[in-house]
Amino acid sequence: MQLTKGAKGADIHKGCTEKGADIHIQSSQNNAIIMGTVQFKTKNMRPNIVASPEKAAAGHQKIDWVRRNMPILRQLESEFRQQQPFAGKRVLVCVHLEAKTARLALVMATGGAQVAVTGSNPGSTKDDIVAALDAQGLHVYARHGASLAEMREHMGFALEIHPHLVIDDGGDIVELLHGSHSDFCTDVMGACEETTTGVMRARERAQAGALAFPVMLINGARCKYLFDNVHGTGQSVWDAMMRSTNLVLAGKTITIVGFGWCGRGCALRAAGLGAKMIVCEVDAVKAADAAMTGYQVMPLLEACEKSDIVLTVTGVRGTLGSAHFEAMKDGVLIANAGHFRNEIDVDALQELAVEHAPMRENVHGYQMPGGQWLHLIGDGNIVNIACADGHPAEIMDTSFALQALNARYLIEHHAALPPGVYEVPEEIDQQVARMKLASMHISID
Ligand SMILES: NC(=O)c1ccc[n+]([C@@H]2O[C@H](COP(=O)([O-])OP(=O)(O)OC[C@H]3O[C@@H](n4cnc5c(N)ncnc54)[C@H](O)[C@@H]3O)[C@@H](O)[C@H]2O)c1
Repeated sequence: MQLTKGAKGADIHKGCTEKGADIHIQSSQNNAIIMGTVQFKTKNMRPNIVASPEKAAAGHQKIDWVRRNMPILRQLESEFRQQQPFAGKRVLVCVHLEAKTARLALVMATGGAQVAVTGSNPGSTKDDIVAALDAQGLHVYARHGASLAEMREHMGFALEIHPHLVIDDGGDIVELLHGSHSDFCTDVMGACEETTTGVMRARERAQAGALAFPVMLINGARCKYLFDNVHGTGQSVWDAMMRSTNLVLAGKTITIVGFGWCGRGCALRAAGLGAKMIVCEVDAVKAADAAMTGYQVMPLLEACEKSDIVLTVTGVRGTLGSAHFEAMKDGVLIANAGHFRNEIDVDALQELAVEHAPMRENVHGYQMPGGQWLHLIGDGNIVNIACADGHPAEIMDTSFALQALNARYLIEHHAALPPGVYEVPEEIDQQVARMKLASMHISID
C-alpha cells in the first residue's frame, strides 16, 4: 500500500488488488471516510490520456472542496456505498470535465460502477482534474485544448468500456453510439442527457424513430433548469466575464441573445450588478416576457450597435455572424454561454478582421475594417466553464443528484423502457428538491 499526499487535509491511500485499484480518501479534518473501497478498472482499456500528471494534487484539492459543498451527492454516495446499485455496470461519463463532474464519476464508482470519463468540450476540460481521476484509478481520456478530432478520439477511447449507462452532456456520445461507434451500443441500457442542446438532439432522433435506447432528459427536471440553467449560468457567466476582463458590469449596456432558462438567469444577475439590459429573442412570448420583466427588447442588429457586451445563449448555430460583427461598437466584449462554440461564427469574425491580437488570457481582439476592436472571450467556447469554474458546486449538486438517481432508475427500469426520450420521474424531482431543502435547513408544510 502506498501513501500519496492529496488535497490539503486529505491523504490518499492507493493500492492494487487483483480486480483493480482500491482507494480510500480520509479527511483529516472530520476523520470521515469520504470514499470507500471501490473497484474502478475494467480490463482491456487503453492507458489513460493525462496531459499533466504532476497536477494531480491540485485536482484532488478542488474535488475535495466541491465534495464539501455538494451535500446531496455526499448523501447519495453513502447510500450507494451500502446498496451498490451499479455493481457490475460500466458507466461512461462525458460531461464538462471539471471538479464537480469528477465527484459524480467517483460517486458512481462508489456505487459499484466501472467508470470511464471523458470531456464534453476540450475548452472546459481541466487537466488537474484529469490527473486526479487518473491518480484515483478511473479510466480517463481528455486534454484541455484538444482539437475536435482529438476530442472525438478520446470519446472513442472512453466508449471502449462498452457502457451499460451513458451520462452525456450535449449528446455527442449518444450520437457516436448511433453512428461511427455503433459497435459499442450492444450493452447500453440507457443514457441520461444533461443539457438543452443534447435534449434537442435526442428528441430529434426519437421523433425520427432512430433512437436505440431510452434517454432520460435531465434538463427537463425542475430541479435542473430552475437551479442550473437560471442560477448556475446566471452567476457563473459573469464570474467568468469579470475574471477574464477585470472590467466592471455596472453602467454597461449588455445584450442577452436568447431569453430561455439560461438567458433569464444571465439577465437577472447582470441587472443586479447594475448593467442596462437588452434582450433579443425570436420567440414572441419570451420577448414579451422579457419586456414585462423590465428589459429593453429589440432586433439583434440594433442591439449590437448599442451594446458593450453581447452574450449568446440560444443553443442555435450562427446566432452571431458577419452583419452583427460589423455593427458592433469599438471595445465590445462578445461571449457565448450556449453549449456549442458555434453560436458565434468565429470563422466569419476571423475572416472579417484586418488585424487580431491577444489582449489577455481568454480575451482575443479582432479589428474590423471600420477600425473598431471586438473582443472575443474564451474563443467562443461556453464561457462560464472555459474561462472560470463553471456552475457553483451547490448548483451541480442538484443537477448531478438527478443524474445519479436517473442512472439508478435506468438500471432498475430499463427493461420496461422502450427506446425513446423520457422525462425525469416526478418522484425523483421531488426527492432531489427535498434533499436540497434539507441541505439548506429549510422545512416546509
Ligand atoms: N453555460 C452553461 O453552463 C449552460 C447551462 C445549461 C444550458 N446551457 C446551454 O445553453 C443553451 C441555452 O439553454 P436554455 O436552457 O436557456 O435553452 P432555452 O431553449 O430555454 O432558451 C433558448 C432561447 O433562445 C431563443 N433563440 C433561439 N434562436 C435565437 C436567435 N437567433 N435569437 C434570439 N433568440 C433565439 C429561443 O427562442 C429560446 O427562448 C443551450 O445550448 C444549453 O445546452 C449552458
